[in-house]
Amino acid sequence: MRFDTIITGGTLVTALGRTRGDIGIRGERIAAIGRNLLSGNGNGARVIDAKGKYVIPAGVDVHVHLDLPFMGSKSADDYNTGTKAAARGGITTVIDFAIPYGKETMNRAVDNWFKKADGISCVDYGFHGTITDYRRHLEEMPRLIERGIPTAKEFMIYANMGWQSDDAAIFATLEEFKRLGAMLMIHAESCGVLDLLMARVDNPTDKKKHGVRLHNMTRPHFIEVEAVQRAITWCEVTGGKLFIVHMSTGPAADLVKQAQDRGVNVLAETCPQYLALDDSVFERKDGHLFASQPQIKTKADQKRLWRALRENTVSNVSTDTCTFTTKQKSIWKGDYCKIPMGLPGLETALPVVYTHGVLKRRIALEQFVQKCCTDPAKVMGMYPKKGSLDVGTDADIAVIHPTKKVKVDWRKMETNADWSPYQGWELAGFAETTLCRGKVIVEDYKFVGRNGHGRFVPRKNPGNL
Ligand code: URP
Ligand code: ZN
Ligand code: ZN
Repeated sequence: MRFDTIITGGTLVTALGRTRGDIGIRGERIAAIGRNLLSGNGNGARVIDAKGKYVIPAGVDVHVHLDLPFMGSKSADDYNTGTKAAARGGITTVIDFAIPYGKETMNRAVDNWFKKADGISCVDYGFHGTITDYRRHLEEMPRLIERGIPTAKEFMIYANMGWQSDDAAIFATLEEFKRLGAMLMIHAESCGVLDLLMARVDNPTDKKKHGVRLHNMTRPHFIEVEAVQRAITWCEVTGGKLFIVHMSTGPAADLVKQAQDRGVNVLAETCPQYLALDDSVFERKDGHLFASQPQIKTKADQKRLWRALRENTVSNVSTDTCTFTTKQKSIWKGDYCKIPMGLPGLETALPVVYTHGVLKRRIALEQFVQKCCTDPAKVMGMYPKKGSLDVGTDADIAVIHPTKKVKVDWRKMETNADWSPYQGWELAGFAETTLCRGKVIVEDYKFVGRNGHGRFVPRKNPGNL
């Protein structure tokens, strides 16, 4: 058999196990897996020597915000820099949230997001809808599903931006999504109590005294936990499918586990920042850079979230990438309410989870692949096209060195961020080589892909693991 590319001699790692072997690629797909595919000189195929390396299905990040107008700013990574960063981090599929502004329809928001990605995305992409007005938006969901978008998010906060969904919206959406086979994603934080706690410290004295610490002082654990409980209740009574985004607390993981044990259709993701960083970052001089919603929690939460990954309470790791530069973040000038919230993450996600998960023996190598590559594709309805090393699937592949560490330095990265939450950290697991649908887009740790290589990935039947 002739191949365009052969990846030879590596350890192929999937969620189910590892084996030594070669991968033969023809066009955009994996055409063969076996031993000695090279036989002779490979008949002119490009040969990638993966001896001593792990060969994994490329990462799938189902929660990013690229080119997002947000909190008076616009997130600094667009579909070009953001997807180059993804490629270097071994991720070849991202899913973003198309958000309607003002009275826009969800379909118009999706059109807008296509325009942001088309022709410049370097890796494959998909979209989630966002329901900001369920009375108008629910009737659009069948059309979104036809367009390959069977998932949509509701925010329990962000009332001031016109994005917030109340209990009625969540309940009605879960009912309707059950009928349609769609999955509702929820940003779970208790808006009313959060607003009250923020109002209590909305004065110059407290802002001066506590600075960015007010960010976590106004968001005690119960802000997330109560909201997760409420969303689970509406999921349980309606029988809909629910996905908790960016879960940051241990007690919320307990609730999700209990609900799953009762047979409730609830899934949850967490993010590298909740697994590897803790609230001591807010004591730093540059602590305001780390502000995100929800905010980074404690070491105890980290520990519980790693366990939740091991025990499958948490289905996958996503980045919630929402990059702002130091200049954008500096707008806060001592008022924590004004900080554009969010962190860069696409370039470092797999390395953080690999180094702090696999190398620190918190999760097995196969679980790393399961949580970062395979299960996100399954949960969002694009498996086995994505997240797999099976013959016939997209040749989306990352080759990583088991131990070689790279020192994180934003100056050498593809992201537009001029800082990194992990600056100076020594991380293994950066992609030495990344392929997206058969094309080599990272070689020797450098991006070598093409603007516009990325293609939209339609999805169906989400919520199944
Ligand atoms: O702070 C964050 N996470 N910004 C992005 C928007 C969101 O809520 O996910
Ligand atoms: Zn959110
Ligand atoms: Zn987000």
